[in-house]
Amino acid sequence: MHLFLLLILQTTAAFGQIDPAHCRYALGMEDGRIKDDDITASSQWYETTGPQYARLNREEGDGAWCPEGQLEPSDSQYLQVDLGRLTFLTIVGTQGRYARSSGNEFARAYRLNYSRDGLLWKSWRNRLGNPVMEGNKNAYASVINDLHPPIVTRHVRLIPVTKLSTTVCMRVELYGCPWDDGLISYAAPEGQLMMPPGYPIASLNDSTYDGTRERRRLSGGLGQLTDGVIGLDDFLLTRQYHVWPGYDYLGWRNDSLGTQGFVEMEFVFDRQRNFTSMKVHSNNMFSRGVKIFSSVSCQFKPHLIANWEAEPVAFKTVLDDRNPSARYVTVPLNRRAAKSLRCRFYFADVWMMFSEISFQSGNEIKHNNHTFQSEQVNKTTSCFDSPDVSNTPVLIGCLVTIILLLVIIIFLILWCQYDCKVLEKKDRRYRLIDWCYFLSGPANTDPHYERVFLLDPQYQNPAVLRNKLPELSQSAEASACGGGYAEPDVTQCTPHQCFHSNAPHYAETDIVRLQGVTGSNMYAVPALTVDSLTRKDISAAEFPRQQLIFREKLGEGQFGEVHLCEAEGLPEFLGEGSPLPDRDGHSVLVAVKQLRADATSQARNDFLKEIKIMSRLNDPNIIRLLCVCVSSDPLCMVTEYMENGDLNMFLSQREIESTLTYANNIPSVSLSDLLHMSVQISSGMKYLASLNFVHRDLATRNCLLDRRLTIKIADFGMSRNLYSSDYYRIQGRAVLPIRWMAWESILLGKFTTASDVWAFGVTLWEIFTLCKEQPYSLLSDEQVIENTGEFFRNQGRQIFLYGPPLCPPSLFELMMRCWSRDIPDRPTFEGLYQALRPHVSQ
Ligand code: ADE
Repeated sequence: MHLFLLLILQTTAAFGQIDPAHCRYALGMEDGRIKDDDITASSQWYETTGPQYARLNREEGDGAWCPEGQLEPSDSQYLQVDLGRLTFLTIVGTQGRYARSSGNEFARAYRLNYSRDGLLWKSWRNRLGNPVMEGNKNAYASVINDLHPPIVTRHVRLIPVTKLSTTVCMRVELYGCPWDDGLISYAAPEGQLMMPPGYPIASLNDSTYDGTRERRRLSGGLGQLTDGVIGLDDFLLTRQYHVWPGYDYLGWRNDSLGTQGFVEMEFVFDRQRNFTSMKVHSNNMFSRGVKIFSSVSCQFKPHLIANWEAEPVAFKTVLDDRNPSARYVTVPLNRRAAKSLRCRFYFADVWMMFSEISFQSGNEIKHNNHTFQSEQVNKTTSCFDSPDVSNTPVLIGCLVTIILLLVIIIFLILWCQYDCKVLEKKDRRYRLIDWCYFLSGPANTDPHYERVFLLDPQYQNPAVLRNKLPELSQSAEASACGGGYAEPDVTQCTPHQCFHSNAPHYAETDIVRLQGVTGSNMYAVPALTVDSLTRKDISAAEFPRQQLIFREKLGEGQFGEVHLCEAEGLPEFLGEGSPLPDRDGHSVLVAVKQLRADATSQARNDFLKEIKIMSRLNDPNIIRLLCVCVSSDPLCMVTEYMENGDLNMFLSQREIESTLTYANNIPSVSLSDLLHMSVQISSGMKYLASLNFVHRDLATRNCLLDRRLTIKIADFGMSRNLYSSDYYRIQGRAVLPIRWMAWESILLGKFTTASDVWAFGVTLWEIFTLCKEQPYSLLSDEQVIENTGEFFRNQGRQIFLYGPPLCPPSLFELMMRCWSRDIPDRPTFEGLYQALRPHVSQ
């Protein structure tokens, strides 16, 4: 029900405030709705170049308004337009004097002053503080300037600007829409800086506020709370370009405002109104201590010179710890009449941040206004507009729609529950997407059947994803062939057979536990029974364990340890021609992964399965299993020892080679080393892809280097606590390397070679940032998941990893292709290998 309430509140958002993208109507200079009397000027050259001729695309008089004489750089001549009522002004268009080709005067630049009451004038500035706008380059073409920020005003002055003494003439059109809110100023405490360690500083001030700032209080103006720009869920991200983190929000810290625990704001309107509601767009990023307000209490004043009425309107919000989306909160104002309001917003957490506030009032006075055409004035009545009596049929219609929607949702949930049971009985492995989970949330999940996929409720659009089902099930078949550590016999079957094999896709796997054993990433391994794996499945030879002499510990995880050991007699044991690492006499150094003696039978089983798969892989860029000790406990697998450890550690301790690193003996790598590493990884992955083997956790932490800088891909999963922050834990059940995962892996649990390609792109990015930064380091895990939703929607709002400075542009293009939303647009490993190989100097 909370969700439903939220849905209503969020839906209201679409209607609750002015939208600068749609508020772009010509206000009537060209078509004459703005009367001559409402256009004035500081001066005019002749009668025939008076202000009434300043109409865009018109040629009356001498074709434009021209101020008297030459315009000097220090002049402040202006053309003034009275729009007749408060207007949300979004665009200004200008033209020069053409006069049917007899004129050639125009303004190359201009400024804008504005006034809501015709007395107090303010200067417009863009978001970076620049007051000058580019004007015309010739006498005939019109130039349109979007006002960022837009302004709420009734009177506008255009002031031509020049660097040299010159004659200027102007024709003008203004664009916008009526400011029905009627709000003429708000007062509030000044916004503050958020300076959390490890995050960028967020400046939560009201940077376009056009009133006064005194003693940390804003008063007498409007600003970002009325600019129509709604802040994003993550307050650090901004809708505007080239501005600072936190720009879209005005925010306050609880303890900075004394002990009062609230923010007091005052709102003044153009006239007395009957207020039905107030909509406050509020951030709710609770992971960073930001929440919508817990309650609000508003007082009313019928006239400016009157006392606040005693009885306030109070409203408690529904706090929400589950959905971090920013949202509109609608506060009912009970049709109270006032010209001024004073509201106290109470903190629910350490921070409170607003990006927009709008007001709805019931007694719209019809204006006999010359400025707006009727279709502009008539707002479409929405379900959530003020509940006027005149709107009763609309309200009834809306209620019926809501009830119908509810019935449909309930029906879908019931149908889905039924569907789940039937399908589960038939063969639960066949379903790729758990629609019940999808529609009704985790309450529906069977504990024996835990699916691991993340679908943020706000991205749940079953219709969209259902359309994708045919495509997805094809890929599911493909990935079932290679899903997890698929057995080689499975890779040879047809897709159809594969689906019936013993290696179900990850998304169809009963996740029993998800912690790696000693190295392997077991969240990817399907549950097999112990009986299903026998010694004969393992093709690696049994080595006498007493010949393994412990040297040092290389790593440790929940289920076991990795040791560096000397393996006595291993060369003889493996026989002639076996590709052995460097030997020291008749012993060699090896890495021994050992399962804890008290490991569960499940962990044992996974360990044996990992051995089975590894024993069949044979490639110079994949870690090689040399032998095993499985005839008695503890179970061990013996692999080559890689002297230079993992690639993440290796690169993070180095700088890019330069004369400086050379002179100061700083450990370094060259660009050509980095390219060589990339080629090797692509080669190893090409091999895995050729076996339809899906790795699922490709990252620099899972690549090892020997002393010659040969790279071998391994898989340590969560076995090394060192990298635990690279994994996201879903409610304590699954650990997922979300920063390396393709959108379809996160949202649909779909792992394929194409999702390995995505991870390869991230691995390349790590390599070329020398592993100095975690991918998307500015985003929390939750934000990474939100960003995944943006990748899915592909509306240009997804955040990509940036191009590392070391990275050649062509290589960054390759990375970007790895992160293509559509799978067919991603390169193959073969293609990646072919693209990368030529870059390596032989
Ligand atoms: N850590 C885990 N496995 C290793 C290996 N094979 N070589 C070096 N370090 C390791």
